[in-house]
Amino acid sequence: MNVDFKLLKLVIEHLGSVAIVDREGRYVYVNDNWVEGIGVSREKVLGKYVHDLFPNTKIDIALETGQSVVGEIFKGEHTKSILPISYAPLIEDNCIVGGIIYTIFKDTEDLWGYKQKLDKMQNQLEAYKKELKSIKNSHYTIQNIIGNSSKIENMKKLIYQASRSNSTVLIEGETGTGKELVAHSIHNLSNRNNSNFIKMNCAAIPIELFESELFGYEEGSFTGAKKGGQKGKFELANNGSIFFDEINQLSMMLQPKLLRALQEREIERVGGKNSIQVDVRIIAATNIPLETLVEKNAMRNDLFYRLNVIKIKIPPLRERLEDIPLIIQGLINKLNIELGSKITGINPKVIEIFNKYSWPGNIRELQNAIERAMNIAWIGQLEPKHFNETIFQNKLSDETIRTSEESDDLSLKSKKNIMIKETVIEALNKSNGNKSQAAKLLGISRTVLYEKLKKYNIVVK
Ligand SMILES: Nc1ncnc2c1ncn2[C@@H]1O[C@H](COP(=O)(O)OP(=O)(O)OP(=O)(O)O)[C@@H](O)[C@H]1O
Ligand SMILES: [Mg+2]
Repeated sequence: MNVDFKLLKLVIEHLGSVAIVDREGRYVYVNDNWVEGIGVSREKVLGKYVHDLFPNTKIDIALETGQSVVGEIFKGEHTKSILPISYAPLIEDNCIVGGIIYTIFKDTEDLWGYKQKLDKMQNQLEAYKKELKSIKNSHYTIQNIIGNSSKIENMKKLIYQASRSNSTVLIEGETGTGKELVAHSIHNLSNRNNSNFIKMNCAAIPIELFESELFGYEEGSFTGAKKGGQKGKFELANNGSIFFDEINQLSMMLQPKLLRALQEREIERVGGKNSIQVDVRIIAATNIPLETLVEKNAMRNDLFYRLNVIKIKIPPLRERLEDIPLIIQGLINKLNIELGSKITGINPKVIEIFNKYSWPGNIRELQNAIERAMNIAWIGQLEPKHFNETIFQNKLSDETIRTSEESDDLSLKSKKNIMIKETVIEALNKSNGNKSQAAKLLGISRTVLYEKLKKYNIVVK
């Protein structure tokens, strides 16, 4: 190799602090950064033993063993700052001919800058970890359950009790009462909260995909199976919780498969030969009492008993109307931030009307009503005219019809949201609530449709 010596010298000068020693450990070369950093002139050190200047040097070890070693040097007489140093042997034709002592940092400021960069990266990593956790795991906690009626207080007590144990929890409640919220809260209060909360929607998953979704699969077990196979939800939930939402919709055909997994606490991947032990906490939710399904022979008795260990029944909104003002206040605060609106409160007359309504869609319906009204009113107090006819049960007056000035107040974003929401509702109405058909009509996948239902709080009855 023919490398210009001048060029090599230039490179060495650009590195941090560099010293080259002979076979015995005597300085033969030190670069400008070394001279500047150590504060000793070149003439004074050349030919001197390194250990005479730095008794703690490790260059002798490198020269003896032929191995690189890392050490540190206290820089400057009056400072205690430390720089990391590398000691490496220089080997030619299998013989140690000398050694090199170097640090990539010119001085402590340089090292400090590097450390700060590392700290910044560490902080970013922590932030990403947190974000990932919020995507993968549950983000609702018991604090999100608003209400101080005695029924809600009792339910919260049950949630605390359930979170202490590992027993299966069955959450029963009408649509929109907060079953998912309760499931998340139990997981987050339990000692499994550092592991995954995995949701399985028993209604949304096609029968033929159920097993591979739940138990995973091995490579090549079916056409289209991913290389290397895939973990199922049970495995993903290991050490955490698995939430079977809409368990009442689980087909009779699939019930024995789930039962087996619940009984044995071990699973077999599709196309796999070995059983895999899993440690998961089971939480299930239903919007109709499972007993009625058992009576109709639509649910296996044994599965019902497995699920019905700790039961948490969520009261419908009409049984705890006293919680409405608190829930509305929470919603107004949250939605003002999300939408950018400036709603200050609600006319007590509206609350009076709300107290007479039966709320079949429960909290979700209340949320929808408030959000819609906030989009219409945008600023000031929510008035009866901002709510639609359903809640007033045909008490619609001219007052409730939106004026054109009011509609001008709507931001483009909220107008767009209303349009999307109404289009989705229209598609669902056209398909008589059939989600697959509605997705087809809209030209979107079922998954995207489910995301929209969730985003716009649309209840399919
Ligand atoms: N007590 C509560 N306080 C505040 N918000 C609530 C409360 N209960 C439910 N919610 C909110 O109401 C909405 C519906 O709740 P959730 O999705 O948990 O209902 P659900 O019972 O699972 O309904 P479905 O049976 O239709 O799936 C969510 O946005 C949730 O955050
Ligand atoms: Mg739900």
